This record gives sequence, structure tokens and C-alpha cells, in this order.
Amino acid sequence: STADIGLIGLAVMGSNLALNIAEKGYTVAVHNRSPGRIDEFVAEAKAQGLDGKTIPKYDLADFVQTVKAPRSIIIMVKAGQPVDDMIEQLLPHLEPGDAIIECGNSLYTDTQRRFDYLKPKNIGYLGVGVSGGEEGARHGPSIMVGGSKEQWHNAEPVLTAIAAKFNGESCCAYLGEGGAGHFVKMIHNGIEYGDMQMIAEIYGVMRDGLGMDPKACANVFQEWNKGPLNSYLIEITGHVLDAVDDQTGKPLVDLILDKAGQKGTGMWSAVVAQQMGVPATAIEGAVAARSLSSRKSERVAAEGVYGKPNRAKTDVTLADLEKALLAGKIVSYAQGFAVIAKASEEFGWSLPLATIAKIWRAGCIIRSRFLDQMSSAYAKGEAVNLLVVPDFVTIMKDSHPSLRKVVAAAAIGEFPMICLSASLSYFDSYRQAQGTANLTQGQRDFFGAHGFEIEGRGTDLHGTWPSTLGK
Ligand code: 6PG
Repeated sequence: STADIGLIGLAVMGSNLALNIAEKGYTVAVHNRSPGRIDEFVAEAKAQGLDGKTIPKYDLADFVQTVKAPRSIIIMVKAGQPVDDMIEQLLPHLEPGDAIIECGNSLYTDTQRRFDYLKPKNIGYLGVGVSGGEEGARHGPSIMVGGSKEQWHNAEPVLTAIAAKFNGESCCAYLGEGGAGHFVKMIHNGIEYGDMQMIAEIYGVMRDGLGMDPKACANVFQEWNKGPLNSYLIEITGHVLDAVDDQTGKPLVDLILDKAGQKGTGMWSAVVAQQMGVPATAIEGAVAARSLSSRKSERVAAEGVYGKPNRAKTDVTLADLEKALLAGKIVSYAQGFAVIAKASEEFGWSLPLATIAKIWRAGCIIRSRFLDQMSSAYAKGEAVNLLVVPDFVTIMKDSHPSLRKVVAAAAIGEFPMICLSASLSYFDSYRQAQGTANLTQGQRDFFGAHGFEIEGRGTDLHGTWPSTLGK
């Protein structure tokens, strides 16, 4: 056996991960269901001068035998049934102590099930979230590890080496048992959806309220990328807005249909948050906004019914928009981290919030300057909600008036702001000592005798309500 690690599944993400491993000096055995893809990989590895560190294997049994025991075998196949099928095919060839490391966007409950299934067989299972797209996989992704801790240590040097670095620190960490890694990756994606949607809402005001063309918008995003919003998504927004279509010479963004796709991870985050009773309204809003966007023909028809939105010029400034985005983002991250904290408690994972913020500082799609601030804030003491972490209280106090101004202007100016307005309402609900659920409780007791609480008098009290029968 000569390979340090094995990798199955040579589509773009898998082959880039394999090349990354080889580049870091580890020998990687590779296998793929269709042999043609193995041939292509061999050529790619050769072209990049990495063929000495890659061992192509066309036969699965032979592939497994090439990896040093206890084996670490990465599988990078489509999420869902293909992962289960791969596990079954691999099983007869594995020995106790070996581990399967699954690096796709799997649902964390699937990962937990596979972990539980393999545990009695003494086969380790690591469910690993890998973020950063194709380029990340090749040059340094953020790696969120969950599953069998013992086997994690076998793979740790390789995974730590291939991950992105932030100030020399690897953006790879073991986060917890079972489905913990994929859970955290799912929330990463939910936050990614929120960031993207809030950026899109701000772009809408620039385009339709301030009358800015894509080039002018691009310049603003490039400028913002030098300030507190500095992040990968702000950077690429500048590039997307700047791009020109080869065929027409027009800004590409103006030609792209306004229908967003989604593969499910954002929706899973919103559903799980609801199931656990943690409000994640920014993530929910972002998922809903994508779903609404996809109903293009309905929207066209509805515009016919109500007429074009009356988008008079707004008086919000670019500085307001920048701060509004920052405030919205803080609320959205506060929600995402609250979901993680709750899952940690519910599943007994002890998820380290400061470490999660740390490994998101580089490599992943939501990487940003902001996450560096967040990891140091959490390192000082993990609070129940980011909105009450002192450093963020300061930023929020400075920025929520802008979020307010922008959301108000959007309401008057007929701009949709599903995500930013959800963030603002969450903030306003979260920071008020006296809410309005007293009325809700009264109503519940009225029609269903569900009981309410009065401080100092008891918890399951009832009102003497008038009858509405026969009225
Ligand atoms: C990442 C991304 C990635 C995800 C895409 C697609 O962290 O690298 O989250 O894993 O697959 O962003 O997501 P949607 O198709 O749902 O937008």
C-alpha cells in the first residue's frame, strides 16, 4: 500500500480535491465509476506536474488495497442515494478501523444515519462540509468535519494541509460527532443565501431607485469591498456587475434572467430552524425570495394586474445602503449561529462557535473580514445571540438606523426587501422587552382555553371570556 489517502468521484470537485492533496505532498489513490474520467484526470494531473503523487485505479478492490491502513477514503459523489450505493460497494473491501470521508452537500440526518450504520461495523464515518466552489477545492476550501473522532485523527494532516489558511491558521476543524459537520455546512449555505439575497436587494435600490447602471454599481461594490463589508461575495458581486456579454457588448447582468436556482441546502436550514424553534427569518426570507423569483410568468402577470411598481427616486444614500447591508448581515449571522447553538444543545454536539467562525474566515463562500471580528468576539465568551456580543452591539447601534431608513424607503418606493425587512423586524422583536404576544395568549385562551401566565399569579390561568355563540 502506497497511498496516504484514497478519493472516489472525479467530477470537478473531486478531481480538484485530489490535485490539491497531491500538491500538498500526499499520495492520493483515485477511482471513478466511469474509467474515461480517470483517464482525463491522469492527463490533468500530468499537465499540472502532479502525476507522481496520484495513483489512478480502475478497479475498486485494487484501489482500496492501494491505500495505507487504517484507510481514509474520501467519497465525492452526488448527494443522496449515490452516497449510500458507494458505501455498500466499498464495505466488503474495508477493514475495521478504516474510514469513509464523505465530502458532498449531504443532509446532516443522512450523514448521522450512515455514521450510526457504520459504527457497529467499526468503520469510521466522517461527514465533511467542503465550501469554496471549484477553485476552493483546488487551492484551499473551508473544511467542516463531523463524525468519528478517532478516524478524524488519521485524516487530519491531509485535510488540514489542503484547507485554506487565514493568517497561517488552517480553515479546517473537527466540530462534533455524527452529522455535525454537514449540519454546520448546511447553515453556512443558509447564511450564504441570506448574504446573496440582501446584496441583491441593495442592488435593486441602486438600479431602480438611484438609477445606477451595472458599471456604476460594480464600482460601489468594489469600493465597499475595502471597508467593513469586505468579503468574497461583495468582491464577486463587483465582478458579476462588471462583466460584459461577448455577443452584444451589453452588461451581462442585464441579460441574465431574474430566476434564481437552488439545490436545497438553504431550504433545509430554514426548515431545521423552524423545527427547532429558532427564528431564522433572514434565511427563510432568502429561500422564499428565490422561490418567488422562479415564478417569472406569475410575476409578469401580476405586474399586468397592479401596474409597474412606482419607483420614484429615493433619497437613501450609498452610505445608508452600505450600513443597512452590514446591519442586515449581522442579524442574519446572529440567526444562523443561534440555529447552530440550538442544534449543538439538542444533539449533544458541543459545537464550538468561535472555531466555526474561524474556519469560515477563508476558503468558503461566506468568507469575510466580518467573520474574523466574529471569531474574536465569540472567543471572548460565547453569547446566546450575536446581537448581544459587545463588539457587535457597537456595530449594530451604529448601523441599524440605516437599515431602518433603507427598509422604510423600500416600502414607500415599492421595492421588495424580503430579507432585509425580515432582519430588521427580527432585530426589533429581539430587542424589545415588552412584545405583543400577551394578546396572542389571550386569543389562544379565548378560543381554546390554552392558558396564559401572569407574573406573581401563576402559569396556567384562564380568562372569563364572553361567549360568541349565536351572535
Ligand atoms: C459552497 C457552496 C456550494 C453550493 C452552491 C450551490 O459552500 O461552496 O455553498 O456548496 O453547492 O453554492 O448552492 P445553490 O445551488 O443551492 O445556490
